[in-house]
Amino acid sequence: MDFKATLKSYQGRIEDGIKQWVPSSKTAPPHLHEAMLYSLEAGGKRLRPVLILAVAELFEAEVDPLPAAIASECIHTYSLIHDDLPSIDNSDLRRGKPTCHKQFDEPTALLAGDALLTIAFEILSRAYQDHPVLANQLVLELSTASGSQKLIGGQMEDILGEDSDYTKEQLDYIHLNKTAALIAVAMTMGAHLGQASEEELNHIRTIGTEVGLAFQITDDILDATSDADTMGKPTGADAENEKTTYIKLFGLEGARKEARNHTASASAICHNLKQDTSFLEALIEYLEHRIN
Ligand code: IPE
Ligand code: IPE
Ligand code: MG
Ligand code: MG
Ligand code: MG
Repeated sequence: MDFKATLKSYQGRIEDGIKQWVPSSKTAPPHLHEAMLYSLEAGGKRLRPVLILAVAELFEAEVDPLPAAIASECIHTYSLIHDDLPSIDNSDLRRGKPTCHKQFDEPTALLAGDALLTIAFEILSRAYQDHPVLANQLVLELSTASGSQKLIGGQMEDILGEDSDYTKEQLDYIHLNKTAALIAVAMTMGAHLGQASEEELNHIRTIGTEVGLAFQITDDILDATSDADTMGKPTGADAENEKTTYIKLFGLEGARKEARNHTASASAICHNLKQDTSFLEALIEYLEHRIN
Protein backbone atom coordinates (compact mmCIF):
# COMPACT_ATOMS: atom_id res chain seq x y z
CA MET A 1 0.00 0.00 0.00
CA ASP A 2 1.40 3.38 -1.06
CA PHE A 3 0.08 5.63 1.71
CA LYS A 4 0.65 9.00 0.01
CA ALA A 5 -0.87 7.84 -3.30
CA THR A 6 -3.90 6.30 -1.57
CA LEU A 7 -4.46 9.46 0.47
CA LYS A 8 -4.20 11.57 -2.68
CA SER A 9 -6.70 9.42 -4.50
CA TYR A 10 -9.22 9.71 -1.64
CA GLN A 11 -8.68 13.49 -1.60
CA GLY A 12 -9.25 13.62 -5.36
CA ARG A 13 -12.55 11.78 -5.00
CA ILE A 14 -13.59 14.30 -2.34
CA GLU A 15 -12.77 17.30 -4.57
CA ASP A 16 -14.94 15.72 -7.30
CA GLY A 17 -17.69 14.96 -4.79
CA ILE A 18 -17.89 18.59 -3.70
CA LYS A 19 -18.55 19.60 -7.31
CA GLN A 20 -21.17 16.91 -7.61
CA TRP A 21 -23.08 17.54 -4.38
CA VAL A 22 -22.78 21.27 -3.64
CA PRO A 23 -24.56 23.75 -5.95
CA SER A 24 -22.21 25.68 -8.26
CA SER A 25 -21.30 29.29 -7.53
CA LYS A 26 -23.65 30.38 -10.31
CA THR A 27 -26.66 29.04 -8.41
CA ALA A 28 -28.94 31.75 -7.05
CA PRO A 29 -28.07 33.51 -4.89
CA PRO A 30 -24.57 33.37 -6.38
CA HIS A 31 -23.01 35.45 -3.59
CA LEU A 32 -23.97 32.80 -1.01
CA HIS A 33 -22.90 29.79 -3.08
CA GLU A 34 -19.64 31.53 -3.95
CA ALA A 35 -18.90 32.00 -0.26
CA MET A 36 -19.78 28.37 0.56
CA LEU A 37 -17.54 27.05 -2.21
CA TYR A 38 -14.78 29.55 -1.45
CA SER A 39 -14.27 27.98 1.98
CA LEU A 40 -15.03 24.40 0.91
CA GLU A 41 -12.63 24.48 -2.03
CA ALA A 42 -9.86 26.36 -0.25
CA GLY A 43 -8.22 23.01 0.45
CA GLY A 44 -7.73 21.43 3.81
CA LYS A 45 -6.60 17.95 4.66
CA ARG A 46 -10.06 16.40 4.15
CA LEU A 47 -9.44 14.18 7.16
CA ARG A 48 -13.06 13.50 8.06
CA PRO A 49 -14.24 12.56 4.55
CA VAL A 50 -11.08 10.51 3.98
CA LEU A 51 -11.92 8.57 7.14
CA ILE A 52 -15.44 7.90 5.88
CA LEU A 53 -14.17 6.60 2.54
CA ALA A 54 -11.41 4.52 4.12
CA VAL A 55 -13.62 2.91 6.78
CA ALA A 56 -16.42 2.24 4.27
CA GLU A 57 -13.85 0.48 2.11
CA LEU A 58 -12.58 -1.48 5.10
CA PHE A 59 -16.07 -2.94 5.54
CA GLU A 60 -16.61 -3.35 1.79
CA ALA A 61 -19.58 -0.99 1.66
CA GLU A 62 -21.93 -1.66 -1.22
CA VAL A 63 -23.43 1.85 -1.24
CA ASP A 64 -21.47 4.92 -2.32
CA PRO A 65 -19.84 6.54 0.73
CA LEU A 66 -18.98 9.76 -1.17
CA PRO A 67 -22.13 11.77 -0.34
CA ALA A 68 -21.66 11.00 3.37
CA ALA A 69 -18.04 12.07 3.06
CA ILE A 70 -19.06 15.39 1.49
CA ALA A 71 -21.70 15.91 4.18
CA SER A 72 -19.04 15.57 6.89
CA GLU A 73 -16.77 18.07 5.13
CA CYS A 74 -19.68 20.55 4.84
CA ILE A 75 -20.23 20.35 8.60
CA HIS A 76 -16.50 20.69 9.29
CA THR A 77 -16.12 23.67 6.96
CA TYR A 78 -19.15 25.41 8.47
CA SER A 79 -17.63 24.91 11.93
CA LEU A 80 -14.38 26.52 10.73
CA ILE A 81 -16.15 29.51 9.12
CA HIS A 82 -18.03 30.20 12.34
CA ASP A 83 -15.00 29.44 14.53
CA ASP A 84 -13.04 32.12 12.65
CA LEU A 85 -15.69 34.86 13.05
CA PRO A 86 -14.67 38.02 14.93
CA SER A 87 -17.04 37.09 17.76
CA ILE A 88 -15.39 33.68 18.22
CA ASP A 89 -11.67 33.25 17.37
CA ASN A 90 -11.39 36.38 15.24
CA SER A 91 -9.12 34.76 12.71
CA ASP A 92 -8.11 36.25 9.34
CA LEU A 93 -6.49 33.26 7.66
CA ARG A 94 -7.82 29.78 6.95
CA ARG A 95 -6.51 27.09 4.62
CA GLY A 96 -3.92 29.60 3.38
CA LYS A 97 -6.50 32.17 2.31
CA PRO A 98 -8.40 35.05 3.91
CA THR A 99 -11.19 33.65 6.10
CA CYS A 100 -14.73 33.73 4.73
CA HIS A 101 -15.70 36.88 6.62
CA LYS A 102 -12.52 38.64 5.42
CA GLN A 103 -13.00 37.65 1.79
CA PHE A 104 -16.73 38.45 1.85
CA ASP A 105 -18.18 40.00 5.00
CA GLU A 106 -19.49 38.85 8.35
CA PRO A 107 -23.17 38.39 7.44
CA THR A 108 -22.16 36.37 4.36
CA ALA A 109 -19.83 34.16 6.41
CA LEU A 110 -22.55 33.57 8.96
CA LEU A 111 -25.03 32.55 6.26
CA ALA A 112 -22.50 30.47 4.29
CA GLY A 113 -21.88 28.53 7.51
CA ASP A 114 -25.61 28.11 8.10
CA ALA A 115 -26.09 26.87 4.56
CA LEU A 116 -23.20 24.37 4.76
CA LEU A 117 -24.59 23.00 8.02
CA THR A 118 -28.01 22.54 6.46
CA ILE A 119 -26.88 21.09 3.15
CA ALA A 120 -25.04 18.30 4.94
CA PHE A 121 -28.36 16.77 5.98
CA GLU A 122 -29.98 17.49 2.64
CA ILE A 123 -27.17 15.54 0.93
CA LEU A 124 -27.57 12.58 3.28
CA SER A 125 -31.36 12.44 2.91
CA ARG A 126 -31.19 12.80 -0.85
CA ALA A 127 -28.32 10.41 -1.52
CA TYR A 128 -29.47 7.55 0.69
CA GLN A 129 -33.25 7.74 0.22
CA ASP A 130 -33.31 4.25 -1.29
CA HIS A 131 -31.69 2.96 1.93
CA PRO A 132 -33.95 4.53 4.59
CA VAL A 133 -32.50 2.67 7.57
CA LEU A 134 -28.97 3.68 6.60
CA ALA A 135 -30.09 7.25 5.84
CA ASN A 136 -31.61 7.50 9.30
CA GLN A 137 -28.47 6.11 10.98
CA LEU A 138 -26.26 8.61 9.12
CA VAL A 139 -28.49 11.61 9.85
CA LEU A 140 -28.81 10.63 13.50
CA GLU A 141 -25.04 10.10 13.90
CA LEU A 142 -24.00 13.30 12.15
CA SER A 143 -26.62 15.54 13.76
CA THR A 144 -25.81 14.21 17.23
CA ALA A 145 -22.06 14.73 16.75
CA SER A 146 -22.62 18.27 15.47
CA GLY A 147 -25.15 19.25 18.09
CA SER A 148 -25.40 21.08 21.38
CA GLN A 149 -23.97 18.23 23.45
CA LYS A 150 -21.04 17.55 21.11
CA LEU A 151 -19.39 19.92 18.61
CA ILE A 152 -21.30 23.08 19.47
CA GLY A 153 -21.23 22.26 23.19
CA GLY A 154 -17.45 21.88 22.96
CA GLN A 155 -17.14 25.19 21.14
CA MET A 156 -19.30 26.85 23.83
CA GLU A 157 -17.10 25.60 26.69
CA ASP A 158 -13.99 26.50 24.67
CA ILE A 159 -15.14 30.11 24.41
CA LEU A 160 -16.24 30.28 28.05
CA GLY A 161 -12.81 29.03 29.07
CA GLU A 162 -10.81 31.90 27.59
CA ASP A 163 -8.84 33.73 30.26
CA SER A 164 -9.68 31.09 32.87
CA ASP A 165 -7.75 28.15 34.25
CA TYR A 166 -9.38 24.96 33.12
CA THR A 167 -8.52 21.60 34.61
CA LYS A 168 -7.46 18.64 32.49
CA GLU A 169 -10.98 17.22 32.86
CA GLN A 170 -12.56 20.42 31.53
CA LEU A 171 -10.06 20.53 28.68
CA ASP A 172 -10.74 16.90 27.78
CA TYR A 173 -14.48 17.68 27.64
CA ILE A 174 -13.72 20.44 25.12
CA HIS A 175 -11.44 18.26 22.99
CA LEU A 176 -13.85 15.32 23.06
CA ASN A 177 -16.71 17.43 21.86
CA LYS A 178 -15.41 20.23 19.66
CA THR A 179 -13.04 17.95 17.73
CA ALA A 180 -13.14 14.23 18.53
CA ALA A 181 -16.92 13.87 18.12
CA LEU A 182 -16.86 14.75 14.41
CA ILE A 183 -13.75 12.68 13.70
CA ALA A 184 -15.22 9.69 15.53
CA VAL A 185 -18.56 10.05 13.78
CA ALA A 186 -16.86 10.17 10.39
CA MET A 187 -15.35 6.77 11.09
CA THR A 188 -18.62 5.48 12.52
CA MET A 189 -20.54 6.62 9.43
CA GLY A 190 -18.05 4.71 7.30
CA ALA A 191 -18.74 1.63 9.41
CA HIS A 192 -22.54 2.08 9.08
CA LEU A 193 -22.11 2.37 5.31
CA GLY A 194 -20.29 -0.97 5.40
CA GLN A 195 -22.93 -2.64 7.61
CA ALA A 196 -20.39 -3.25 10.37
CA SER A 197 -21.48 -5.23 13.42
CA GLU A 198 -22.27 -3.54 16.74
CA GLU A 199 -18.92 -4.70 18.12
CA GLU A 200 -17.03 -3.35 15.11
CA LEU A 201 -18.92 -0.05 15.37
CA ASN A 202 -17.82 0.29 18.98
CA HIS A 203 -14.18 -0.37 18.09
CA ILE A 204 -14.32 2.11 15.22
CA ARG A 205 -15.91 4.77 17.41
CA THR A 206 -13.20 4.32 20.03
CA ILE A 207 -10.45 4.55 17.42
CA GLY A 208 -12.04 7.76 16.10
CA THR A 209 -12.27 9.27 19.57
CA GLU A 210 -8.60 8.50 20.27
CA VAL A 211 -7.57 9.91 16.88
CA GLY A 212 -9.67 13.01 17.58
CA LEU A 213 -8.13 13.60 21.00
CA ALA A 214 -4.62 13.24 19.56
CA PHE A 215 -5.62 15.52 16.69
CA GLN A 216 -6.67 18.46 18.90
CA ILE A 217 -3.61 18.15 21.15
CA THR A 218 -1.43 18.18 18.02
CA ASP A 219 -3.38 21.20 16.69
CA ASP A 220 -2.60 23.03 19.92
CA ILE A 221 1.08 21.95 19.75
CA LEU A 222 1.29 23.29 16.18
CA ASP A 223 -0.44 26.50 17.26
CA ALA A 224 2.41 26.96 19.76
CA THR A 225 5.31 25.81 17.58
CA SER A 226 4.54 26.30 13.88
CA ASP A 227 3.97 29.34 11.68
CA ALA A 228 1.08 30.71 9.64
CA ASP A 229 2.74 29.90 6.28
CA THR A 230 3.03 26.23 7.13
CA MET A 231 -0.34 25.97 8.85
CA GLY A 232 -2.42 28.12 6.51
CA LYS A 233 -3.96 29.72 9.61
CA PRO A 234 -2.61 32.09 12.27
CA THR A 235 -0.50 30.55 15.03
CA GLY A 236 0.06 31.68 18.59
CA ALA A 237 -3.66 32.36 18.95
CA ASP A 238 -4.21 30.02 21.90
CA ALA A 239 -1.56 31.74 24.03
CA GLU A 240 -2.82 35.15 22.95
CA ASN A 241 -6.38 34.27 24.00
CA GLU A 242 -5.04 32.71 27.20
CA LYS A 243 -6.59 29.38 26.40
CA THR A 244 -5.92 26.40 28.59
CA THR A 245 -4.17 23.79 26.47
CA TYR A 246 -2.18 20.65 27.17
CA ILE A 247 0.92 22.76 26.55
CA LYS A 248 -0.11 25.21 29.25
CA LEU A 249 -0.92 22.35 31.66
CA PHE A 250 1.94 19.94 30.97
CA GLY A 251 4.50 21.73 28.79
CA LEU A 252 5.38 20.90 25.19
CA GLU A 253 6.91 17.52 25.97
CA GLY A 254 4.01 16.58 28.23
CA ALA A 255 1.53 17.48 25.47
CA ARG A 256 3.49 15.45 22.92
CA LYS A 257 3.42 12.48 25.23
CA GLU A 258 -0.38 12.73 25.64
CA ALA A 259 -0.84 12.93 21.85
CA ARG A 260 1.43 9.91 21.43
CA ASN A 261 -0.57 7.91 23.99
CA HIS A 262 -3.87 8.59 22.21
CA THR A 263 -2.27 7.74 18.86
CA ALA A 264 -0.84 4.51 20.23
CA SER A 265 -4.16 3.41 21.66
CA ALA A 266 -5.95 4.17 18.35
CA SER A 267 -3.30 2.21 16.41
CA ALA A 268 -3.49 -0.76 18.75
CA ILE A 269 -7.28 -1.13 18.45
CA CYS A 270 -7.02 -0.62 14.70
CA HIS A 271 -4.34 -3.30 14.41
CA ASN A 272 -6.56 -5.81 16.20
CA LEU A 273 -9.41 -5.51 13.69
CA LYS A 274 -9.57 -8.47 11.35
CA GLN A 275 -9.66 -6.29 8.22
CA ASP A 276 -6.61 -4.94 6.39
CA THR A 277 -6.10 -1.68 8.27
CA SER A 278 -2.72 -0.74 6.77
CA PHE A 279 -3.99 2.55 5.29
CA LEU A 280 -5.77 3.58 8.49
CA GLU A 281 -2.77 2.73 10.61
CA ALA A 282 -0.51 4.77 8.32
CA LEU A 283 -2.99 7.66 8.43
CA ILE A 284 -3.10 7.64 12.24
CA GLU A 285 0.70 7.67 12.33
CA TYR A 286 0.88 10.46 9.74
CA LEU A 287 -1.52 12.64 11.75
CA GLU A 288 0.74 12.58 14.77
CA HIS A 289 3.69 13.82 12.74
CA ARG A 290 1.78 16.22 10.49
CA ILE A 291 3.11 19.70 10.00
CA ASN A 292 -0.20 21.37 9.23
C1 IPE B 1 -9.06 22.33 12.13
O1 IPE B 1 -9.30 21.11 11.50
C2 IPE B 1 -9.94 22.46 13.33
C3 IPE B 1 -9.61 21.50 14.38
C4 IPE B 1 -10.45 20.60 14.78
C5 IPE B 1 -8.33 21.55 15.05
P1 IPE B 1 -8.34 20.58 10.37
O2 IPE B 1 -6.91 20.67 10.82
O3 IPE B 1 -8.81 19.23 9.94
O4 IPE B 1 -8.56 21.65 9.21
P2 IPE B 1 -8.48 21.49 7.63
O5 IPE B 1 -9.76 20.83 7.21
O6 IPE B 1 -7.27 20.65 7.29
O7 IPE B 1 -8.37 22.89 7.11
C1 IPE C 1 -11.83 24.55 16.50
O1 IPE C 1 -10.72 24.46 17.32
C2 IPE C 1 -12.54 23.28 16.40
C3 IPE C 1 -13.81 23.46 15.67
C4 IPE C 1 -14.85 22.80 16.01
C5 IPE C 1 -13.92 24.39 14.56
P1 IPE C 1 -9.61 25.58 17.05
O2 IPE C 1 -10.17 26.94 17.23
O3 IPE C 1 -8.39 25.21 17.78
O4 IPE C 1 -9.36 25.34 15.49
P2 IPE C 1 -8.37 26.21 14.60
O5 IPE C 1 -7.03 26.17 15.28
O6 IPE C 1 -8.96 27.58 14.52
O7 IPE C 1 -8.36 25.47 13.29
MG1 MG D 1 -11.74 27.86 18.30
MG1 MG E 1 -9.94 28.67 15.87
MG1 MG F 1 -6.35 25.52 17.01
